Amino acid sequence: MTEKHATLSIDNGEGSVDNIELPIHEGTLGPDVVNVSGLTAEGYFTFDPGFTSTAACESQITFIDGANGVLLHRGYPIEQLAEHSDYLETCYLLLYGELPTAEQKTEFVRTVHQHTMVHEQIRTFFNGFRRDAHPMAIMCGVVGALSAFYHDSTDISDQNHRTVAAYRLIAKMPTIAAMSYKFSIGQPFMYPDNSLDYSANFLHMMFGNPCEPSNISPVIARAMDKIFLLHADHEQNASTSTVRLAGSSQANPFACIAAGIAALWGPSHGGANEAVVKMLEEIGDVSNIDEYIARAKDKDDPFRLMGFGHRVYKNFDPRAKVMKQAADEVLAELGINDPMLDIAKRLEEIALEDAYFVDKKLYPNVDFYSGIILKALGIPTTMFTVIFAVGRTVGWIAHWNEMISGSYRIGRPRQLYTGYSERDFVTIDKR
Ligand code: ACO
Repeated sequence: MTEKHATLSIDNGEGSVDNIELPIHEGTLGPDVVNVSGLTAEGYFTFDPGFTSTAACESQITFIDGANGVLLHRGYPIEQLAEHSDYLETCYLLLYGELPTAEQKTEFVRTVHQHTMVHEQIRTFFNGFRRDAHPMAIMCGVVGALSAFYHDSTDISDQNHRTVAAYRLIAKMPTIAAMSYKFSIGQPFMYPDNSLDYSANFLHMMFGNPCEPSNISPVIARAMDKIFLLHADHEQNASTSTVRLAGSSQANPFACIAAGIAALWGPSHGGANEAVVKMLEEIGDVSNIDEYIARAKDKDDPFRLMGFGHRVYKNFDPRAKVMKQAADEVLAELGINDPMLDIAKRLEEIALEDAYFVDKKLYPNVDFYSGIILKALGIPTTMFTVIFAVGRTVGWIAHWNEMISGSYRIGRPRQLYTGYSERDFVTIDKR
């Protein structure tokens, strides 16, 4: 029951004012939401490019307070999940709303492991790609094609189909991701080893080969699991909103996740981790940092400091804090000394003190540190965004399932039209 209302007063151009009552909805946390859905009937649309003030849906999965650097999954702070949980347990939490009991967790992990293999014919798909294709390009194609192989889980009105599709996507993403990498370097694909945990299995498929037993470092496997966990969900970001929008037309889940992967790819979103490393390579030396900081501040220069700034966080991204700590631990444990890390550290110090970045509240984001840690783990740069996609798949699926399980309408934004008014067609001889 709505109790609060807002009143919108609009000058109707006829010397009086139209007052339109708009209901206000209160969430558990976060700002109240003014319901503008009735405005169309009054002859108005709202205008909000980039959706900076628009709540496009109701959700119970993740809450972010960007001003205070808070991120909660189903109410649990990300810092606590990163310390006490693991990736698959967090997947269960996101999908089902509660932490699993020991039996539920065992069953969940067992079921995910059962789905790690892909249909053998999917292997032939890869031969159609160029060897130098970006792995994200391959991911978009192969994940979209999954609907051609798994018809028995594409009836979105059947909860059972939706659950099986969720398991398949979470389980097969690391397999497809590793296959994309193996293809690019001309090595044989590795079948999953279901005796390994989720992250160790991914590393086995990435770095193992059929001639030798895989020797997966537990330090690296733990770090990889944390990276997946920290990327698991982030409420209504560009890729998740894309998945919801695609899903709102009742498209199948595999097609929707492929749409999410495409949206994630850009450097303003998940592509930033790869862009961070490219930027650090371009800077090349600590002595060049000042020049790049000056370029980032120059309005006439399109250059931006990759890995800095966030649409929602105007404070430290809490995931970045955990990621930074994990990066420090991994670098110390593996004894890695990379001059690029010195550039990253110095850049971070300068940006955190520089008035431009301080005033605009541009803090290092999760991609700044994930780029660094993934490089330290020996992950090739082109795989960074793919790894983000693997971790985020559960978030996409959880949001898609939440939408399909409730009441929803096809997403159809409106526009402020500023083109020509109606005019008569001019035949070609008169133009
Ligand atoms: N370097 C320099 N200046 C920046 C940066 C940056 N990285 N980010 C924002 N700014 C400036 C903008 O020029 C703008 O200045 P102005 O107010 O004088 O015009 C101001 O800060 C606000 O920036 P917007 O672009 O309006 O912020 P928006 O919320 O639209 O964009 C975004 C957020 C895309 C993340 C932006 O900060 C950016 O491009 N960062 C670099 C790319 C990046 O790291 N992306 C990863 C995001 S995290 C993720 O997806 C997991």
